[in-house]
Amino acid sequence: MRRLRLIPVALWMLVGVVGAALVGLSGWVPILSPQPPTAISRGVAAVGGPFSLTSHKGEQVDNSRLAGKPYLLFFGFTYCPDVCPTTLLELSEVLRELGTDAGRLQVVFVSVDPERDTQEQLADYVRAFDERIVALRGTQAETDATVKAFAAYARKVPQGATYTMDHTASVYMMSASGNFVGTIDMHEPSATRLQKVRRLLDRRD
Ligand code: NI
Repeated sequence: MRRLRLIPVALWMLVGVVGAALVGLSGWVPILSPQPPTAISRGVAAVGGPFSLTSHKGEQVDNSRLAGKPYLLFFGFTYCPDVCPTTLLELSEVLRELGTDAGRLQVVFVSVDPERDTQEQLADYVRAFDERIVALRGTQAETDATVKAFAAYARKVPQGATYTMDHTASVYMMSASGNFVGTIDMHEPSATRLQKVRRLLDRRD
């Protein structure tokens, strides 16, 4: 009985200690690292936040470097058996259909599998679709940060002795100033896709 009564006392003491520690921490945290106001209060998901990766040509590409031209961004990996090659094929088709307007658009493929998608691997891969597509890769940390910046997901799924990647399949439409405009679903009719891209090119932001 005595021991049982002691437990709640010990718990309350623990609550007190933790509480005091939290009060102490909350007092110190703003001094140590000032936190900017979070985007949560705006009610709009911030998609397309800062990222920095390396292109299949070895150039550093980040969100500010991409600014100035609207772009379509797609996450995938070169070992993907179906969704990625199909999407890249369809994006190549969009570029063809745009004709000379294709020069006003950038198409970006971001690898979610930096382990296997080396720069050379990516260079060979985009060559099979359209040379105008820019393939990007980074370290695992840079890749994770980019996936997070686009509120996307990418997960390694073991497959026998190897693995596959489960990943967001939507194509992100970004304006010239890097604002998230919407997504393109590759199941949409090609006319709808093209119309969405043309509207993206006509945007002023
Ligand atoms: Ni894929």
